[in-house]
Amino acid sequence: MKNQSIILEQAQKYDSFYLYDESIILQYTNQLKECFPNVEFLYSLKTNPYPQVVKTVFSQGFGADAASLEEVRISHRNGLPKDKIYYSAPGKSMDDITEALEYSVIIADSLGEIYKIQDIAQKQDIIVPIGVRINPNFTFYAQEGIPAKFGIDEEIFFNQMKELKSLPNIKIVGIHVHSQSQELNADILKTYYTNMFQLAQTVQEKLEAPLEFINLGSGLGIPYAPEDAPLDVIQLGKFTANLLQQYQSFFPKTRIFIETGRYAVGKSGIYVTKVMDKKISRGVTYIILKNTLNGFIRPSLIPFVKGYSSQENPLSNEPLFTGKNAFELIPITNETKNETVILVGNLCTGSDIIAKDITLPTLHVGDVLAITNAGSYAAVLSPMQFSSQIPPAQLFLTVSGSIISM
Ligand SMILES: Cc1ncc(COP(=O)(O)O)c(C=O)c1O
Repeated sequence: MKNQSIILEQAQKYDSFYLYDESIILQYTNQLKECFPNVEFLYSLKTNPYPQVVKTVFSQGFGADAASLEEVRISHRNGLPKDKIYYSAPGKSMDDITEALEYSVIIADSLGEIYKIQDIAQKQDIIVPIGVRINPNFTFYAQEGIPAKFGIDEEIFFNQMKELKSLPNIKIVGIHVHSQSQELNADILKTYYTNMFQLAQTVQEKLEAPLEFINLGSGLGIPYAPEDAPLDVIQLGKFTANLLQQYQSFFPKTRIFIETGRYAVGKSGIYVTKVMDKKISRGVTYIILKNTLNGFIRPSLIPFVKGYSSQENPLSNEPLFTGKNAFELIPITNETKNETVILVGNLCTGSDIIAKDITLPTLHVGDVLAITNAGSYAAVLSPMQFSSQIPPAQLFLTVSGSIISM
């Protein structure tokens, strides 16, 4: 396994930790830039706001997809200008909007929010350029819309267009659609992007003003399970370049954004946990690991979902559940003998299980186990306060080989 000696060295100091590898973040962010030369990328901070991770992604020219005021602040503190920070989330408060106006472009998530922004802008006697999140009449899989808590239904938006255009203190300059995450099939994303450009053209025609940006949202998936075929970003990039060419006369100066969290950083992280105890109970061998459910919840949700689903492959429900083989469990040991065990965490609850009936090289107290795909929706989703355990450390391995811990 990559970085094995570094993992073992850090495991002397920490019983559980995340290790984010800068070189892998650079590899994935550069790949996107190469494949989509005319697209600007926004980093979805929600996936991993660890300071060195954010800095590394921003250093590659990415802007920010901020889902809260705090993510706007983080992006601003990292030096991003206003036109590289896009604040899109449902349920923003008046205070959120007032502060965020200064540092970011706000994407209104509802008609109510457009009027909130109008009110604030009127009081300040300014005209605010905004984006609008649209709930379109298509999904990844069908040419029809669905109800959603995100955005304004396309038909409602068009029906209200006349009134929205008459609001004196806002100017709609962009659109944002995010349909769903973690798609590995390039053909589905091609159809989605095609639908997006058609939608953008209609919006522009109805606005009777050029769109300054079209935000295509995310969707870029990464292979989690060994059987997953990676998304063909080369092919998707070529297709997107052609689409841009086709729409060149409609959008000569429009900026095109793709948001991504997991594609940029998902593969860069591993989670490392140590065997704290081992016992046999009525013939079952329990391996007790440090901070699993509470340190990195997603692998622990797999036995949970499998226990409640009659399906062989339970449907994903991002970002909590991706698939039954989404995380590889890799014991770092020279043991050659195998053993069938149950892997559990150290919380005082019987539901703290990471894998049942799993055959692995024999583990002993003090051994370490690495878990893959821990760069995204990992530390942030995990209930680290549960039972006041010392939380896992978060470490960052730089390209020059040094470790940064915060
Ligand atoms: C609006 C929006 N954009 C982007 C993302 C990032 O998705 P991913 O990490 O799969 O790229 C999400 C994820 O929930 C989202 O809700």
